[in-house]
Amino acid sequence: MRVSDRTPCRLSVNGDALQCLVSPMTTLCEALRYELGLTGTKQGCDKGDCGACTGLIDGQPRLSCITLALSSQDLPIVTIEGLADMGAAPEGGLRAERLHELQDAFDRFGAAQCGFCTPGILMSSAALLVAEPAPTRDRIKAALSGNLCRCTGYTKILDAVEDAARRRRARLDKEGEPRLAAGRQA
Ligand code: FES
Ligand code: FES
Repeated sequence: MRVSDRTPCRLSVNGDALQCLVSPMTTLCEALRYELGLTGTKQGCDKGDCGACTGLIDGQPRLSCITLALSSQDLPIVTIEGLADMGAAPEGGLRAERLHELQDAFDRFGAAQCGFCTPGILMSSAALLVAEPAPTRDRIKAALSGNLCRCTGYTKILDAVEDAARRRRARLDKEGEPRLAAGRQA
């Protein structure tokens, strides 16, 4: 593909209006990682099978490796780099203040080993907790059925999501309203 075949693409990522040059076949995953430097979104199978590339588009979990960058223009996108801003600290403190409840729980439960699958699992889980603040374990399993982990086994991941859901509900009960930012949901 010649440079001249590339076209400007407007992407709204984590509340920032960004622009890059892409080809018509550039995937959102490629644009995020290689044009915008947002490498938290992982490129695993690159064919829609593993869930590592999951991000939120318009609040819904989407596989960015099979989503074209140009088709994502002007839609609110949240990547793992924006997840911390979606949540709040369960207990305060310098570290936890910036983490989403899910990130904090994955840390405390040891739910990540190599971490390659973790951004996708966190984003799928974040979408679930917005849609279903009190999911059953079976609902969590269903929501994560497209996210594969080669290291950890799934028990700690499920435990961590359950814990994060409890803590998130407690925070929302205390705050009254979910905090909303441009393109993001608490
Ligand atoms: S990298 Fe997208 S589903 Fe595997
Ligand atoms: S922690 Fe390594 S693939 Fe999931």
